[in-house]
Amino acid sequence: RIAYVNGAYLPHADAGVHVEDRGYQFGDGVYEVCEVRAGHMVDERRHLERLVRSLNELRIRLPMPLAALGVVLRETIRRNRVRNGLVYLQVTRGVARRDHYFPDPATPPSLVVTARSVDPARADAVAGEGIAVITVPDNRWERVDIKTIGLLPNVLAKQAAKQAGAREAWFVDASGHVTEGGSTNAWIVTGDGRLVTRPAEGGILRGITRTVMLEVAEALQLRVDERPFTVAEARAAREAFVTSATNLATAVVRIDGHLIGDGRPGAVARALRENFHKYAQ
Ligand code: PDD
Repeated sequence: RIAYVNGAYLPHADAGVHVEDRGYQFGDGVYEVCEVRAGHMVDERRHLERLVRSLNELRIRLPMPLAALGVVLRETIRRNRVRNGLVYLQVTRGVARRDHYFPDPATPPSLVVTARSVDPARADAVAGEGIAVITVPDNRWERVDIKTIGLLPNVLAKQAAKQAGAREAWFVDASGHVTEGGSTNAWIVTGDGRLVTRPAEGGILRGITRTVMLEVAEALQLRVDERPFTVAEARAAREAFVTSATNLATAVVRIDGHLIGDGRPGAVARALRENFHKYAQ
């Protein structure tokens, strides 16, 4: 395997960043994860747009023009011979003597890109079974709209899920409404067949997969409500599912040990999953 690190393609085993990288010391950076399918990035443009937004919010410079970044992403995918899988990109505020204040503006941001294969049959098998989730209090900061590498609450929540025999944790806000998963957006289908997901403006990351799935839902003539939903509503829902670049739409069949619907992945989650790549670019 090969990783791109600040201008060089290195053997993955030897690819490292400096000990005074601000990503390492402060979590001072942002990232993107993009699906690779048949050798091509899915929704590359939207991922790069979100990257630029995250960088702007944190006042980190783009490490190179977007066109050049596209070349690095493609070259990393090519050198790793990824047909189906994912590409990971991380930009930090760069290397400087440890000091909380921003470094000298001339400090170049650090860029790392990795890519790896994922067996689509295995992902489909997981989706075919459905996953279990637990719910945990949302103890994250207010700027979860930024795709920062500072993911400690997400790490702790997902580890708690794993130890409870679940795959994902759903964060719940102070009013009992689900915000999103540790690395996914959260959806339900109500008893009367309406698709519900939280508005992107309030307390979640605006998932690219979420955006595309809203288009798929419209094309499938599903009725959609972008509104917060409670844990109680989710437990009583006909279906529940999560979306992300690495999960597409994956059914949730258990919430805190409570079966959703008949405990099998539902028709809506399946239809969205099957139609996703017709609408993703
Ligand atoms: N996670 N919400 C959170 C907190 C996420 O970390 C992610 C993505 C999403 C879904 O966004 P998208 O549809 O653009 O992938 C929602 C990535 C996959 C990760 O951290 O691995």
